Amino acid sequence: MVVILQPNIFKNKTILITGAASGIGRGLAIHAASEKMNIILMDIDEKGLTETQSLIPNSSSLALKCDVSNFKELSQCKDKIIEHYGTVHFLFNNAGIFLEGRSWKVDNQNWKRIIDVNVMSIVYGLNLFVDEMIASNERCHIINTSSMAGLIVGPAFSPYTATKHAVVGLTRSLYEDLKNEYPNIGVSVLCPGLVKTNIMKRDKSGLNLDNSVIDQHETATLNKEWLGEGVKDGMDPINLAKIVFDKINKNEFWILTHPEFLEVYKEYSNELIRSETVTLN
Ligand SMILES: NC(=O)c1ccc[n+]([C@@H]2O[C@H](COP(=O)([O-])OP(=O)(O)OC[C@H]3O[C@@H](n4cnc5c(N)ncnc54)[C@H](O)[C@@H]3O)[C@@H](O)[C@H]2O)c1
Repeated sequence: MVVILQPNIFKNKTILITGAASGIGRGLAIHAASEKMNIILMDIDEKGLTETQSLIPNSSSLALKCDVSNFKELSQCKDKIIEHYGTVHFLFNNAGIFLEGRSWKVDNQNWKRIIDVNVMSIVYGLNLFVDEMIASNERCHIINTSSMAGLIVGPAFSPYTATKHAVVGLTRSLYEDLKNEYPNIGVSVLCPGLVKTNIMKRDKSGLNLDNSVIDQHETATLNKEWLGEGVKDGMDPINLAKIVFDKINKNEFWILTHPEFLEVYKEYSNELIRSETVTLN
């Protein structure tokens, strides 16, 4: 029997993970360490970054405190990265925050904050790192973390849903723009269901969480509670990371990690297909 060895696309390559101080980002970092990658951990939470770094003691890693919604801070970090490791081969735009509420009842500063963190940080990551990936001619990959909220819609989740839908659209456009001209750069969108993380803590989110500002509608409150409970029993980020790396290795665009939501995705897609097409005479 002839065994064909696949080249390891991860070993000795450089990976940048935003939101690496906790949850999914931390799980990705631990998996990257097992793949023997050079790991850049980035987060607004310095203490959490130190904790993540302590979990990967035998790896080459660099921890950078950064608010990824701030282009200037991110570009200063890029200079340090280039100096330390050169090209980033695997870019995980993963940092994100959660906010519930009905669109017209969400304070516009909170709207701005969630758009800046969940969407603009990804745009900045692309602005700063894609050209070098192209120039490197090496196998690279960009993974943007969206959510099941990027594919389906529920009531009173407007800011989170809008930003996560934007991430899906942005990432698909990126995929279309790169796939033919620069096939060495893979693109994936990560759409997890419930994962056991600290997303509902929100202490470093930069959101104004005062009750007078947050939408107090019963549905918003109940949905937030449902999500909080679901996250507590969610998937282990280490298991999620295994799925993610396997999908990247297979160069797949969609990374859907929770099959229990497939029926809901189908129902939502069917609604589009069933909708009547209007022809103008
Ligand atoms: N936990 C879930 O069930 C779930 C499901 C779907 C998608 N997601 C997405 O996964 C991603 C990671 O979230 P998580 O669940 O691991 O939550 P988490 O809160 O455990 O981790 C998110 C990390 O992002 C960091 N962060 C937040 N704002 C930042 C900023 N401006 N600059 C730098 N770092 C910042 C936080 O400090 C934190 O360490 C998010 O994009 C989230 O929307 C989570």
